[in-house]
Amino acid sequence: MPANWTTFRELLLAPNGRRGVESELRRAVRDGRLAPGTRLPSSRDLAAQLGVARGTVTSAYAQLIGEGYLSARRGSGTTVTAACTWPGAAAAEPEPAPRFRYDLKPGVPALSAFPRDEWLQAQKSALADLSNDDLGYPDPAGFGPLRRELADYLGRVRAVAARPSEVVVTNGAAEGISLLGRVLRAAGHRGVAVEEPSHFGAAEILTSHGLEVVPVPVDPDGLRVDLLSTTDCRAVLVTAAHQFPLGVVLHPSRRRALLEWARACDGLVVEDDYDAEHRYDRPALGAMQALDPTRVAYQGSTSKVLAPALRLGWLVLPPALRDVVVERKRLDDLGTGTLHQAAFARLLSTGGYDRHLRRTRQLYRARRDALLEALREVLPRWEPIGVAAGLHVVVRLPDGTDDVALQERLARRGVNAPALARYARTPTFPGLVLGYAALTPDRLREAVLELRAAA
Ligand SMILES: Cc1ncc(COP(=O)(O)O)c(C=O)c1O
Repeated sequence: MPANWTTFRELLLAPNGRRGVESELRRAVRDGRLAPGTRLPSSRDLAAQLGVARGTVTSAYAQLIGEGYLSARRGSGTTVTAACTWPGAAAAEPEPAPRFRYDLKPGVPALSAFPRDEWLQAQKSALADLSNDDLGYPDPAGFGPLRRELADYLGRVRAVAARPSEVVVTNGAAEGISLLGRVLRAAGHRGVAVEEPSHFGAAEILTSHGLEVVPVPVDPDGLRVDLLSTTDCRAVLVTAAHQFPLGVVLHPSRRRALLEWARACDGLVVEDDYDAEHRYDRPALGAMQALDPTRVAYQGSTSKVLAPALRLGWLVLPPALRDVVVERKRLDDLGTGTLHQAAFARLLSTGGYDRHLRRTRQLYRARRDALLEALREVLPRWEPIGVAAGLHVVVRLPDGTDDVALQERLARRGVNAPALARYARTPTFPGLVLGYAALTPDRLREAVLELRAAA
């Protein structure tokens, strides 16, 4: 009998039938309630204690002996086997991170605006139209109808030069960066230039694949393309339409210079077009990819338009990279799930995606205006920078402000407002990166009062 238990009936929580006895015993061994070496009662005894048929216990013992949790030796009965304890089993689930009262972290759309009804409709009609063959392993490049819809949409909305055969569907932009990082590393690249400041998630992915990340500064005209030749890199990751996080646009002359640099060094530009559809004062500038599709790998995602939970993104690849990236993707995961892809293709083909964009653009514009107005009124010395686009603004704080300390003070008040320093290796000025898409105008005005209280 285990020391702390008077009866096995208490130890094994109301097991019901053979499966119940078996799974309760397995769980008790795994989480250490039944220590290694513990001798179990005979099947007759345990059956009597639990009020189940003896055969229920003998078959549960036999199953767990087969799995290695128990062992049985003639004369010494059935004991718990030492090798099968699992120390982490009893550990509690980690506590979820505390929720902020006002969460201004950038990069998250209004999740409450997710077009649930349209998505359900799209899922339903797409599934009804899928053939049995479509339910087999997917094409690792992506579901054909989605690649066709994306080629059409990207050409129409982002002026991308894309044929369906050059589109590769990924699990978010993150997978696109990961695939490209590994393909570049395998081709002999040692480093990738990134904007400074920039999205650390992308840098982390590249570093995890053995690439050095080389920061190149951004000024009001975007990436300092002239400095690329001072690095050893032949690849660069750039957010040309709306720099993350500063929100500036890559100047047309710099777009041209960037492509000249790529041609001169036989290099690659990765254009991360992460939130380009959200421009409020004028139509967004087209992607730079079409200026030289042989030198630019274009990448996009549904994360900022629909929801990050979908994990749906895409690459439009130069012909020289297409097959090697698709092969990498095949080896990773045999392709992205077809059901989500088919639903998204349907949302695109029925105009649901465009309608959602029109609705959310209005919503975000009103939220952005409310945030800027409140900042002007309440914190006039804080200077918003960047173009009227995206889902966040950067505010430049008065010189000498410690933005990281301010972020921490705000967090203690229940406000999540990341410091610009969190996105920079060598910060040039203090700032906060304020995502506004997820909060209503009223909540944004309240959040600004909190910002003032902590400033
Ligand atoms: C600039 C930028 N690129 C890429 C991503 C990743 O997007 P996805 O969710 O599609 O992996 C993000 C997400 O926050 C981002 O901010």
